[in-house]
Amino acid sequence: MLDQLLAALNETERAAVDEEEYQILQAVVDELPAFSHEVSQLIPILQEIQGKHGYLPRLALDMVADHVQTSIGKVYGIATFYNQFRFNPPGRNPIKVCLGTACHVKGGEILLENFERRLQIKEGETSDDREYSLERVACIGCCALAPAVVVGEKVEAYVTPSKVEGIITEIEVRNEMAAREQAKNDATSE
Ligand code: FES
Repeated sequence: MLDQLLAALNETERAAVDEEEYQILQAVVDELPAFSHEVSQLIPILQEIQGKHGYLPRLALDMVADHVQTSIGKVYGIATFYNQFRFNPPGRNPIKVCLGTACHVKGGEILLENFERRLQIKEGETSDDREYSLERVACIGCCALAPAVVVGEKVEAYVTPSKVEGIITEIEVRNEMAAREQAKNDATSE
């Protein structure tokens, strides 16, 4: 089935399916038979794919539609209805802006816009270099720290628009230090 789906893509679309995504799609082919063909399995299947692979590749949605014998439109409609699903691979630094009630009233939406501007991506997207992904999430359970943002595994508290720049700079500095360390190690092992 995967080969058929790939054959139906145009050249640009096919080129966009990199090796990593291809491996995920192969895994989905193996995982689908564990589920019945009932349309009631739609959400559990999507949860399984996202849980294992971090996101729902577009061709995986086609495969799911075929498996539960429904239209791609219905699968996509359900997947987009629930905030829990994402359609792009997570970045190495996933940024989740809380927009639960407490964070929303303390300016969460403005923070999200600031991250979008700084990273040049929209919520739900991943930067081309896969360094960052950005999403809005519901309450993360620490409303006393509102507005809160989760960067990787770390909760950033009382985030202000000016702190957005600091958060990204901290990541850039960390990456730069890691790159220098790596270059030093490479040089000494030569
Ligand atoms: S609303 Fe953001 S942590 Fe609860």
